[in-house]
Amino acid sequence: MTQVFDVERVLAQLTLEEKASLTSGSDFWHTQGVERAGVPAVMVTDGPHGLRKQPEEADHLGLGNSVPATCFPTAAALGSSWDVELVTRVGEALGRETRANDVAVLLGPGVNIKRTPLCGRNFEYVSEDPVVAGELGTAIVRGIQSQGVGTSLKHFAANNQESDRMRVSAEVDERTLREVYLPAFERVVKNAQPWTVMCAYNKVNGTYASENHWLLTEILRDEWAFEGLVVSDWGAVHDRVPALAAGLDLQMPAAGPRPDEEVVAAVRDGSLDEAVLDVAARRVLDLIARSLPGIEADDSFDVDAHHELAREAAAAGSVLLKNDGGLLPLASTEGVAVIGEFARTPRYQGAGSSQVNPTRLDSPLDALRAVGELEFAPGFTIAGGPDGDDAALLAGAVEVARGAETVVAFLGLPGPDESEGYDRPRLGLPDNQVAVLRAVAEVNPRVVVVLANGSAVSVTDWRDLAPAILETWLGGQAGGSAVADLLLGVRSPSGKLTETIPHRIEDTPAFGNFPGEAGVVRYGEGVLVGYRWYDTRAVDVAYAFGHGLSYTTFDYSDVTATADGTDVTVTATITNTGSVAGAEVVQVYVRDPEAAVLRPTRELKAFAKVALDPGESRAVAFTLGARDLSYWHPGLHRWVVEGGEFVVEVGASSRDLRGSVSLEIEGEPLWGELTPMSTIEEWLAHPVGGPLLSAALVPPADLGPLDETMQAMIQQMPAKVIADFGLSGFDRETLDTLVAKVAAG
Ligand code: BGC
Repeated sequence: MTQVFDVERVLAQLTLEEKASLTSGSDFWHTQGVERAGVPAVMVTDGPHGLRKQPEEADHLGLGNSVPATCFPTAAALGSSWDVELVTRVGEALGRETRANDVAVLLGPGVNIKRTPLCGRNFEYVSEDPVVAGELGTAIVRGIQSQGVGTSLKHFAANNQESDRMRVSAEVDERTLREVYLPAFERVVKNAQPWTVMCAYNKVNGTYASENHWLLTEILRDEWAFEGLVVSDWGAVHDRVPALAAGLDLQMPAAGPRPDEEVVAAVRDGSLDEAVLDVAARRVLDLIARSLPGIEADDSFDVDAHHELAREAAAAGSVLLKNDGGLLPLASTEGVAVIGEFARTPRYQGAGSSQVNPTRLDSPLDALRAVGELEFAPGFTIAGGPDGDDAALLAGAVEVARGAETVVAFLGLPGPDESEGYDRPRLGLPDNQVAVLRAVAEVNPRVVVVLANGSAVSVTDWRDLAPAILETWLGGQAGGSAVADLLLGVRSPSGKLTETIPHRIEDTPAFGNFPGEAGVVRYGEGVLVGYRWYDTRAVDVAYAFGHGLSYTTFDYSDVTATADGTDVTVTATITNTGSVAGAEVVQVYVRDPEAAVLRPTRELKAFAKVALDPGESRAVAFTLGARDLSYWHPGLHRWVVEGGEFVVEVGASSRDLRGSVSLEIEGEPLWGELTPMSTIEEWLAHPVGGPLLSAALVPPADLGPLDETMQAMIQQMPAKVIADFGLSGFDRETLDTLVAKVAAG
């Protein structure tokens, strides 16, 4: 029977000490209970791509074993599906497992932006683009929460690296935060209301996220109307009193009696308003109340069905990077040689708090062998064995490859390369694997490379050796069967890159500003993150954002865009022009060729995944609004649509655009306030100030006509400086009168 839990009645009974105790955990995974008042403790647990529920006797660092749960594809893989409907179904399955295990909140998803491919935790994040991260984050939250359990949207905000993550200050200008690092959170909060948001470890512009009033209250609550609870990342609170005042509700995990005592003392001495504590305690009680029905229900989940869903999702999230000569799909396993230890020992998830104990595990080798006989040679050790071992393994791989019709080489990053808690040591694959590929390709040019890694790896040095490359990311427990499905054409690849694959680390946006120094990481690239950087700076890349091939081909026609004020309707017709069924991810980008601020060459604003049978066509339509045309004005501190030309581009990747339409959009007037320190250019551009200044500022006759250089110099000078020069009758008094007239309208 579901307990009746009346939050207001309970809150009214609690003592100050009890309310303070509710604002932290009781252990690593539980909230605090108050037995006297009938408040139970509820459990929260990781997240994000599977449930990591530790048994009661687990270690206190929270990193030991956990109960078996479906290990779905990591966010890097799931995100690459660009499939809102599929991701929602995965969310529902995650929600069912959470509920069946009597857990109140699954700690995910993570929607931090992939600022650098070297972030050790990129496998847990969706994209370098906020629209993709926000849309798919919304889908997963909706799916999970549809089962009556909560989510934790993390890590809010600007947690884009693992190096020094618990202390580093991310120094990010407001426009960049608003346009790149906050919108994915904003979209999920506004569209799906996650039960909780988890604040990050790091500081944002000098203030710990856990104590950041601007972030936790002004943005999250006042602007986005977040209704849930703010929980800290584990160990991210250093002083609970200012954290509560900033908008934090729950410190996790348990932190001993001292923070509770400090809260009580602060209320008693008046430095913390008791109403602030009441709000936090109420939110904790609300969370408990809304999770009780799920915890008390007797539920189970279908292990086989979830494994099948994990397989479907892993296939949908794999990206076919190249397929020269149509080498894939393979007709059968006959004559196929499988090379690479990863075929036998799959790499399917990353390390750290997200690590799931899978209900089962499919290896690619077993999945392929279930279809037919084939040869296998491990080729290398994942850790890189002593020279002798590696040489023998390489020779074995060459032997097997020599006699084969086609070679499928499973390569990837060793597990320790990608983990929570530290960043990646390299962008490329380990040398021992590349050496095997080179040797194999010398005796057999028909090589398919299957990659397993949680974030972009450089392929530039070796991609010419392999006519086909399939990027599978970290595909979860059913990734092995999914890969077999794709290689053999049971399914057609339909994933696309949510992160650019660059040639070199030196080409990447954060290079030179990562991982920072002396406790500070400066986001010097500003809004130019991911493809916004590569496209704007025309940097050559290995594979562009949004790229991904299929076993079929798609034609784009009838691309249109029409504007009604700042509402833009975009349409396109997509046709499957090949001979097998497939799905295409149609992407809509917006370009603002001329603006008062630097705008990226193009920005993704909408997308849709369209499944089509051979010969089938479908029209797709998208609606964009003012926000999709806007930038965050750094001076006015709000979104503005600057009028003029906009170009809407529809394409198959950020560098494979199939149609573009130019539109004239009427924007809003953008005149800032005029002051004595406004430049002559700013004065002249102002509809009221311009004519006034022109009339008042007459160059002295003896100066003669001003040449172009002189005029250009003057444009950049503040009106006050001109007045101070006293060159004409234009003095400070005149200027002050003009300022007053402009202010009066
Ligand atoms: C991670 C979070 C995780 C939490 C609980 C932290 O170290 O950053 O993502 O949810 O631990 O395991």
